[in-house]
Amino acid sequence: MSLLPYSLARPFLFGLDPETAHELTLQSLARLQGTPLQWAYCNAMVHDPIELAGLQFPNRVGLAAGLDKNARCIDGLAGLGFGFIEVGTVTPKGQPGNPKPRMFRLPQAEALINRLGFNNDGLEAFIANVKRSTFRQRGRILGLNIGKNASTPIENATGDYLVGLEGVYPYADYVTVNISSPNTANLRSLQSDEALDGLLGAIAQRRQALAREHGRRVPVFVKIAPDLDEAQVGLIAATLKRHAMDGVIATNTTISRDAVRGLPHGQEAGGLSGAPVLEASNRVIGQLRAALGKAFPIIGVGGVMSAQDAVSKIRAGADVVQIYTGLIYRGPQLVADAARAIKRLRTVA
Ligand SMILES: Cc1cc2nc3c(=O)[nH]c(=O)nc-3n(C[C@H](O)[C@H](O)[C@H](O)COP(=O)(O)O)c2cc1C
Repeated sequence: MSLLPYSLARPFLFGLDPETAHELTLQSLARLQGTPLQWAYCNAMVHDPIELAGLQFPNRVGLAAGLDKNARCIDGLAGLGFGFIEVGTVTPKGQPGNPKPRMFRLPQAEALINRLGFNNDGLEAFIANVKRSTFRQRGRILGLNIGKNASTPIENATGDYLVGLEGVYPYADYVTVNISSPNTANLRSLQSDEALDGLLGAIAQRRQALAREHGRRVPVFVKIAPDLDEAQVGLIAATLKRHAMDGVIATNTTISRDAVRGLPHGQEAGGLSGAPVLEASNRVIGQLRAALGKAFPIIGVGGVMSAQDAVSKIRAGADVVQIYTGLIYRGPQLVADAARAIKRLRTVA
């Protein structure tokens, strides 16, 4: 149990503009990480090991991509009890993202809308930060999430992903190919049949060369959207298998506004996350599990706001789960609660 209850910090953070609160939290974590003061917010890590895609995960709850886009706070975030952490999305070149304001809280719905647009410092700075972290040496799993620059035409997207793959490969336990952010124009079109086939074919080929060069085959996961029908999910599943991808992360944020219509900020453009995305995300997970069979790794993400929500993802077919928005609304205690509830499932089963 951490020394600082989140119930005290939350009103202060929610009094700030969401992006300022985010920055302040990350800055504090970055400053405290590696110092004795880190114990003030640390949670013990629940031990519930699982092997997935050839990797040993110490427990089944991870941090979703996008909270630490520049990989500045990996060691600080580790203190919250995550078994695995995914950082990024990183693009080859640094870019500012969309104009502010671009992140909104919808507290009545326990949700966020963001249209950050892959604001990040670029691959070089990202890798320098990853290299400084000691997280991997301590037996935890680090995922590095790659995307394309906004200025790169969508026809040339593959080039950006290959630059990203090559850059992060030596430092990753797994690499995530993010093709599902709604905030980079046309990015989600990469999920459609021919485009996905071309992209994953190129990634698989480059990965083979990198595996030879580095003497290590790094698993590649593909992150998809919740806004897909069953036929689209089926096509994606077949393409993932055809190119021997190692796992799928389901899901990113949704562009649907059904659950938040009429709420303040409900019509802001961008991706909606948190409670309203749970159902759609679990539906996609279930469809993926049916299409991919029992053994294919599925990382479930979207709307985990409680331990029961985390359990619902495992029941829908996920092997492990990730959290982002739940951390903002419920605080770090959610990580341990979710990990414990999932562990209990195994002992009951
Ligand atoms: C502010 C914000 C920024 C995000 N940035 C990224 C990103 O850069 N890359 C990515 O793959 N997902 C990103 N996501 C999506 C999350 O990783 C996650 O898939 C989604 O929010 C659903 O999970 P949640 O309901 O637990 O937040 C972002 C989400 C939020 C709220």
